[in-house]
Amino acid sequence: MTSHDAPGTALVTGASSGIGWEYATRLAGRGWKVVLVARRAERLESLARELREAGATGVETLVADLADPADLARVTERASGDDVDLLVNNVGINGYGPFAEVDGDLLDRVLTVNVVALTALTRAAVPGMLARGRGAVINVASLLAFAGDLPPGPLPRRAVYAGTKGYAVTFTRTLAAELSGTPLRLQVVCPGLTATEFHLGAGATPVSGERRTHDEGGVPPEDVVTASLAALDTDEVVCVPGLTDPEAVTRLATAELDLRRGSGGRAAARYRGAGAKAREAS
Ligand SMILES: NC(=O)c1ccc[n+]([C@@H]2O[C@H](COP(=O)([O-])OP(=O)(O)OC[C@H]3O[C@@H](n4cnc5c(N)ncnc54)[C@H](OP(=O)(O)O)[C@@H]3O)[C@@H](O)[C@H]2O)c1
Repeated sequence: MTSHDAPGTALVTGASSGIGWEYATRLAGRGWKVVLVARRAERLESLARELREAGATGVETLVADLADPADLARVTERASGDDVDLLVNNVGINGYGPFAEVDGDLLDRVLTVNVVALTALTRAAVPGMLARGRGAVINVASLLAFAGDLPPGPLPRRAVYAGTKGYAVTFTRTLAAELSGTPLRLQVVCPGLTATEFHLGAGATPVSGERRTHDEGGVPPEDVVTASLAALDTDEVVCVPGLTDPEAVTRLATAELDLRRGSGGRAAARYRGAGAKAREAS
């Protein structure tokens, strides 16, 4: 299945703004039916109107707060529908702030939206996709999944956010391996700074007012979606839209494998004192 096939319905979370709005628009333009999920009903209605005016049929809106268990249950129910061939887990909030000071409820919300909802929706959609022998899941992570502790640009105030995006990367790669040999496609897309509403709030409440972008700038969301849909068509699991050298992804995987294979059955000598170190060296 490629993004140019339009066999069924795409469910897009976080469709009321930014990257999600763009996924919905592009998929509807390719003939997909779309289910638009977010909290702001009026935004979803305005997107639905725009898509219908452009000729889309089968546009559905599903107003839901994915941090709310009852709402999440409604959306997982919809994601398990036998028409859903593409799930785009795009929703994400940042909860930025110094770790020791940031509100604990906000961090819970970040974990629920970025990790729990993504996992629950994938779990809801995959069994039906497997049974029907077609389907794809796109998870939106971030470049901040990588090298969060490394200079010259470590990531203060972002530990939980970066952790959730690391989860999205590891979860998607590992599930893609589990499902290799099936017709399902899994992708994790890792955008860098993107021009959306993302930095206009921490995510606890919706951004108010007209659609606009944050002051930080960044690449247009159109570029992120162009890369992601192209990568889906070529079966690329880890899509980094701005990455000019795709071998960097392979080198990362190779380094990870070295680390895992290099781990022996006992604690390494450097943890066991000077005698053990000398015995191991001899
Ligand atoms: N912008 C960047 O620089 C950047 C970089 C890398 C990765 N990303 C990732 O890209 C994804 C999309 O973000 P974006 O940049 O497009 O940001 P955005 O413009 O802020 O869009 C976020 C979307 O998520 C929805 N949302 C937030 N909380 C929700 C909740 N509890 N329940 C349901 N929907 C909720 C928002 O709609 P409502 O407020 O209407 O609910 C909105 O539609 C996120 O996963 C983000 O982590 C962004």
